Amino acid sequence: MKNITVIGVGYVGLVTAACFADLGNRVVGLDIDEDRIAGLKRGEIPIYESGLEEMVTRNAGADRLSFTTSYPKALREAEFVFIAVGTPSGVDGEADLKHVRAAAESIASTMVAPLIVVNKSTVPVGTGDWVADVIRAHQPKPIPFSVVSCPEFLREGSAILDFMNPARTVLGSLDPEAAEQVAQLHLPLRAPIIISDLRTAEMIKYASNAFLAARISFINEIANICEALGADVKEVATGMGYDPRIGPHFLEAGLGYGGSCFPKDVMALAHMAAEKGRHPQLLQAVMLINDDRRRLLIEKVGELIGDLEGKVVGLLGLTYKPNTDDMREAPSLEIARRLVENGAQVRAYDPVGMMRAATIMPELIMAEDVYALAEGCDALVVCTEWNEFMHLDMERVHKAMRQPVIVDGRNIYDPVEMARLGFHYRGIGRGYGPDGQPIEEVQPGEVREQ
Ligand code: UDX
Repeated sequence: MKNITVIGVGYVGLVTAACFADLGNRVVGLDIDEDRIAGLKRGEIPIYESGLEEMVTRNAGADRLSFTTSYPKALREAEFVFIAVGTPSGVDGEADLKHVRAAAESIASTMVAPLIVVNKSTVPVGTGDWVADVIRAHQPKPIPFSVVSCPEFLREGSAILDFMNPARTVLGSLDPEAAEQVAQLHLPLRAPIIISDLRTAEMIKYASNAFLAARISFINEIANICEALGADVKEVATGMGYDPRIGPHFLEAGLGYGGSCFPKDVMALAHMAAEKGRHPQLLQAVMLINDDRRRLLIEKVGELIGDLEGKVVGLLGLTYKPNTDDMREAPSLEIARRLVENGAQVRAYDPVGMMRAATIMPELIMAEDVYALAEGCDALVVCTEWNEFMHLDMERVHKAMRQPVIVDGRNIYDPVEMARLGFHYRGIGRGYGPDGQPIEEVQPGEVREQ
């Protein structure tokens, strides 16, 4: 059992704190947000993440997990201090390190014994060295400490599973002894542990996320070409994925990547490169292709229903991906904004994201379910691939709509089946003929030969 303090109980911090407590350590979660800490003490979990509430409650009940806003309390017995504060994008995509700086300064002024400071936040390459400088500069008297980088690779919606079953643990430090001690904390997870220097560990995180983002933009570019040539991108991705050098993951064409990591990390990496006089051409293309996904989707809606002025468009799903209530960089927001700019009335339904979305875009009209959403719509646009959208009563949806038009930004429906049901349907990178035109649409009631 080790004494661990986690600074920042947002998404990454809270999952890290709960999981380390669950592995038998004594963990204190610290945050400067008093409401958040008060809520956590009452057992209120500020984010939607499968299994987290149960894990927090169980470990708090067993006295392995506690929460505080006080640095002196949090650091009194700490052997390891994890920094897991936010690093939002600043100007030009540069990561804003003000929260990391504040955490480092507070650690420096309150630490009473030697510590290992572990950085979990995604920070520009070189930040580990800088954190050490900040701590050293703010210590009232010198107390030994080491800085270790341990980037997180958690996906929202499966963060606990990812923490407990990592593909690898990446550690970086100039102090091999400190890295070894952090490695020991991760041994129960039974994953390969890669120990490197600080900068390399920081770079592994950026390179991994940028590579995954590049895969997504790659398949989206292929989807555009599939539309022009009459191929089916879903089957192309399946065919590619069987090659072990390629693999099947992150090849789903659609509205592009969103969320709190990929957009921010690709931009930050490009910024770091440019600052050093390098030209990150591939990263620039990855971002341009991703931004273009939203525009292309609006184009498809326009092709089907013409001028958007006065039209009613329903968004199926709002969150940037299913199984989260996170709206950060959700493509649905940009799509809604563009539709509104073009004079459309925009409605939406999402199983869990509506409350958050309403605070960001109050003009969105929320529906209580998909059927209520479809009522009187000129088009439905699939923005998020929630499971509950896969098996709807499409005849009921068809009847409710003013025009039976579906633009499927996540390829969850089959173009032929949709045409058979009488919908005017557009997917992404599929359902187009060799002439680049959408496959012939079937009139309502007519049954297409398969
Ligand atoms: C990601 C990384 O996976 C994780 O390792 C990192 O630490 C944080 O960022 P997350 O943002 O939770 O995690 O989501 P992820 O499931 O990776 O999806 C990211 C985005 O890519 C989503 O918007 C998703 O819709 C999109 N995506 C993913 C695609 O468009 N196509 C795909 O094939 C896969």
